[in-house]
Amino acid sequence: MSKTLFQYEQNNLFFDGVDLQQTDLIKNYQKPVILYRKILIEERIQWMKSWNGLHRLHFAMKANDNSEILKILLNTGCGLDVVSIGEVEKALSVGFKAADIIFSGVGKTKSEIDKAIDLEIYQINVESISELQRISDISTKKNKSVHIGLRLNPEVDAKTHPHIATALQDSKFGISMKDISSCLEIIRKNSNLIFKSISYHLGSQIMTAEPFQNALAKIKPVFLNLQTEFKSLDRLDLGGGLGIDYKNHDMTNDEIQWQNLKTVYETELTNFPAQCLIEMGRFIVARSGILITEVQYVKKTETKEIVICDVGMNNLMRPSLYQAYHHVLPLKKNNIEKTYMIVGPICESTDFFHKDFITSEIEEGDLIAICDVGAYGRSMASNYNHQPLALEFFI
Ligand code: LLP
Repeated sequence: MSKTLFQYEQNNLFFDGVDLQQTDLIKNYQKPVILYRKILIEERIQWMKSWNGLHRLHFAMKANDNSEILKILLNTGCGLDVVSIGEVEKALSVGFKAADIIFSGVGKTKSEIDKAIDLEIYQINVESISELQRISDISTKKNKSVHIGLRLNPEVDAKTHPHIATALQDSKFGISMKDISSCLEIIRKNSNLIFKSISYHLGSQIMTAEPFQNALAKIKPVFLNLQTEFKSLDRLDLGGGLGIDYKNHDMTNDEIQWQNLKTVYETELTNFPAQCLIEMGRFIVARSGILITEVQYVKKTETKEIVICDVGMNNLMRPSLYQAYHHVLPLKKNNIEKTYMIVGPICESTDFFHKDFITSEIEEGDLIAICDVGAYGRSMASNYNHQPLALEFFI
């Protein structure tokens, strides 16, 4: 049975069953807003938790750092994956404990490592030999132990946009397999370094389970081998990366997408001697948010009709950065079909959502919804051109 996220009734757009025209925010529209549905997030957390082998889901906070959304994760017993002390501080401010936080990232500074060790963070995912040496030196100076995970680069093609693939050869992310032995030398020399985890993250917006399976085939034997020497090694961090089909809003497909990955995990990891962690971001929050914008002008050129909105790449970078597709739906539709270029107000030619988008006729003053902005939407937004950041609300 299909379950569509968007539908029209009497030409009015409904988002997850909510009649948008009836919400006060839309009736009194003043400036761009992101509207979230919490239930879509809670549902996905439940899907992931249905995998019995999952020890803990660590939400990748970079996908969305809205406090209310983080609280949903907190209240459902999830942890976080963060990439800076700024994110650690935000996590603590909404109620997470240091013991809930995995600290990833390729550029951790001395003071960030210092703080993470003081806080007794759950696990620092180390991304290079030099970083491991730095952590070792700081832990010695403090005479304090630290839980570390080695983030390995399994060199698996995630078959995603090159800008969001992270496990290719020469990637800046993770430790090359050939450098494991140098890391072990550092670990052996310092009893403050508690080797807890092997971790990897292949990239983002991965649409099939195959890359995940390929990575496990490479990582599992390495893990088992290391475990014979390092008895503390008892966590396998499987990263995040599961994608969504931005062109399709039948939610049963999303569930199948997760089920396919879950099947790989169940097949490969049942009885595996490790606590399994995942660091999902996009898959949990992408569907939950829509960005509402008002059409300011419809401008005609020789060959195009250009819809100019009051929101642009400052509030949704993804189309400009990765040529990402975000579906657009007018809040009120009609029966005339037209093709538009849809752009924002920013003074950059890359400030567009679509080059040729077919939709019902749009007029100045119309409100339109840009779909699936819950992940890497507001968290990547800026005030460029002194344009306002979209306000966030829950409906
Ligand atoms: N773990 C690590 C170490 C990561 O670097 C990331 C994402 C994740 C987990 C979560 O990945 P996800 O489940 O969300 O795919 N701004 C880009 C995506 C960048 C992803 C960066 N790392 C976009 O809008 O497509």
